[in-house]
Amino acid sequence: MSNAYYNMKVVDITQETADAITLHLDHPDKQNIPYIPGQFLTLILPVNGQKVRRSYSLCSTPEEPYFSVTVKRVEGGLVSNFLAENAQIGQTIEVMAPLGNFVLKPEAGQKRHIFLFGGGSGITPLMSMLKSTLKFEPQSRVTLIYGNRNVDSVIFKDQLAQFEQQHPNQLKVVHVFNEALVDATEKQDHIGLLDRNMVLRLLEDLTVPGYQQESYYMCGPEGMMNEVREALQFKSVPASQVYKESFTAPTSSEEHGADVTAAPESDEIITRTVTLRYEGQEYQVEVKPTETILEAGLKADIDLPYSCQAGLCTACMGKCLSGRVHLTEREGLSDAEIAQGYVLNCVGHPLSADVVIEIG
Ligand SMILES: Cc1cc2nc3c(=O)[nH]c(=O)nc-3n(C[C@H](O)[C@H](O)[C@H](O)COP(=O)(O)OP(=O)(O)OC[C@H]3O[C@@H](n4cnc5c(N)ncnc54)[C@H](O)[C@@H]3O)c2cc1C
Ligand code: FES
Repeated sequence: MSNAYYNMKVVDITQETADAITLHLDHPDKQNIPYIPGQFLTLILPVNGQKVRRSYSLCSTPEEPYFSVTVKRVEGGLVSNFLAENAQIGQTIEVMAPLGNFVLKPEAGQKRHIFLFGGGSGITPLMSMLKSTLKFEPQSRVTLIYGNRNVDSVIFKDQLAQFEQQHPNQLKVVHVFNEALVDATEKQDHIGLLDRNMVLRLLEDLTVPGYQQESYYMCGPEGMMNEVREALQFKSVPASQVYKESFTAPTSSEEHGADVTAAPESDEIITRTVTLRYEGQEYQVEVKPTETILEAGLKADIDLPYSCQAGLCTACMGKCLSGRVHLTEREGLSDAEIAQGYVLNCVGHPLSADVVIEIG
C-alpha cells in the first residue's frame, strides 16, 4: 500500500449544483501518480486549527490532465462545508496517494454490460468508471441508473447527456427523481424511489442480449444500495459480479463487526500491547479499551496511513499475523479478506495479548 503524500494545487473549481463543487487538482511537478477508476484521494485540510482527513472519490480518469474530486455539502458536515466556503483556485491541498478497492479496470477485449447504480454524490467513482469504459472498452455497454432528489441536484447532468449523445450505442443514462418538478419535461425520467421494484423494472427494460457478462457497481445512500442488492439477489446475480462503495458507515441495527481470529483467548476489550510492523520498523503500542489500534499508533507518533476512520475505505488496512482483533465495522473488507486475516486499524481492538499486524 502506498502512503505517499503530495501537495496539489487547485487549478479550477466547477460549481456542479447548488451544493456540490468539483476541485481540479494539478499533478505535483507533473509526477505520474497512477490510479484506477473508482479509487479516491484523501484530502488533508487544516480546519479549526486541526488537520482533518476526508476521502473523496476521483471522478476524473488517469488520462485526464488533472485529478478531479467532487464534494457535496453534508448538513452540519465539517469538511464538505469548509471546502464549499473556502476552496480557492491557487490554494495548495495536501493529499494522500489514491487508494481503494472499488475499482473498474477497463480491458480493451471485453464485451460486457456494466450497470452503474448511483445516488447523489455516489456518482463520483462511477463517473470515472463510465468515462474509462467508454474510452477503453469500445465493445462494452454502460447503463447508469442515477437517483437524485430532483433534476437540479444531478451532478454532471450536462456531461452525462453529452456522453450519451456521443456514444448512443454504448451508453444509456436513466435518471430517477424522488420528486417531480412542476415543469418537468423529460418524459423518460422515472419519478419515485430507487427501490427494489423500480430496480427490477428498470433491469427488465434495460438488459440487452449479446454481452459476455454483466457487472454491477453501486455507490450511494445505504438504503438505496440495500434495495439494489436485494433486487440483484432476487435475480440470482452472483455476488462476485456485484461491487459496492459506501461513503458512510451503515446505520441499521445489523451486526457489522467481525473478529479476525487465531486462538481465542478472551472476548474482553482491555488495555493490551499490539505489535505493528510498518515500513521495515516494528513498534509496540499500548491500546486502551477506549481507543482503536490506529488511534493508539498515531498517539505513539507512528505515521500510519488512514483516511475515513470509519472502516469504509481500507486506507488503514493491515494483515493480522497473530492474535485476535475485533472490528467494530467491516464494510470495507470482503469476506475473503476477513478470512485471510486482514484488519482495519481504524476500527480494530485487540482481543488477545499476541496481536501482530503488518501494514502496507
Ligand atoms: C471511500 C470514500 C469516498 C468518498 N467520496 C466522496 C465523494 O466523492 N464526494 C463526496 O461528497 N463525499 C465523499 N465521501 C464522503 C466524505 O469523505 C465525507 O464523509 C463527507 O464529505 C462528509 O464530511 P464532513 O466533514 O462534511 O462531515 P462530518 O463532519 O464528517 O460528518 C457529519 C455527519 O454527516 C454524516 N455524513 C458523512 N458523509 C455523508 C454523506 N455522504 N451523506 C450523508 N451524511 C453523511 C456523517 O456520518 C456525520 O454524521 C467519501 C467517503 C468515502 C469513505
Ligand atoms: S481509515 Fe478508512 S477504513 Fe480505516
